[in-house]
Amino acid sequence: MEVAICATYDELSKLAAEAVADVIRKKPNAVIGLATGSSPLGLYRELIRLHKEEGLDFSRVTSFNLDEYVGLSGGHEQSYRQFMNKNLFEGINIKMVNTNVPDGLVKDYKAFCKAYEEKIAAAGGIDVQVLGIGSDGHVGFNEPGDSLASRTHTVTLNEQTIKDNARFFERKEDVPIFACTMGVGTILDARKCVLVANGRNKAKVVAVMIEGPISSMCTASALQMHNDTMVFLDEDAASGLKLADYYRWIQKNKPKAPK
Ligand code: F6R
Repeated sequence: MEVAICATYDELSKLAAEAVADVIRKKPNAVIGLATGSSPLGLYRELIRLHKEEGLDFSRVTSFNLDEYVGLSGGHEQSYRQFMNKNLFEGINIKMVNTNVPDGLVKDYKAFCKAYEEKIAAAGGIDVQVLGIGSDGHVGFNEPGDSLASRTHTVTLNEQTIKDNARFFERKEDVPIFACTMGVGTILDARKCVLVANGRNKAKVVAVMIEGPISSMCTASALQMHNDTMVFLDEDAASGLKLADYYRWIQKNKPKAPK
């Protein structure tokens, strides 16, 4: 994993957006994987700025979101479809028909999940996947104990995740308890991963993800097995890392590193 420790959330968001934009500039018909939540909001704001001010073109881009709550329609204001429309899609020139978010109202999830995987494969696979990390170590909605080889599937959300996400709902009881998520295996198939994390409440789990053993107790730790993952952190989220000074040293010397 390549770890970039940034002074501010703004800086980490800009660097992470640049990593995504770079893929799109090199491959205008890129397939991008997207996450919801607070962490990538700055990254999405920067992608919108790059589109509006620097002409970053999404007209041939296809997107696949990581997850959706089971039980919420795409029109529900807390659905991840709405989140993506508001926070990214409406600010760029992606064609809505090329955006994919798992459906929250499906009768046969087994068939739906299989079709979602097939659609990703038919699009040529994911070129760059945006990720956050949950305070329980989840990536996508792959909760502790979930298989590190999993494909798109439904999950029962952990009590901690329900508590964390209650901030977006009127009452904790309104948070759905099931979700549909790309699996860890699906995520590891992405050619590049860009994970963003900020704030002191992520420090412990970020250290486990980067420096702990690979374990389903922190599904994000599976990214240690991925050969092109960039992690963008602010100082608070990086505060639990034992090798923080080494990661800073690597970044400082990156311009001189052998190509
Ligand atoms: C969301 C997702 C989750 C979030 C994680 C962190 O699509 O897949 O893994 O990235 O729960 O959420 P925030 O950024 O709100 O702390």
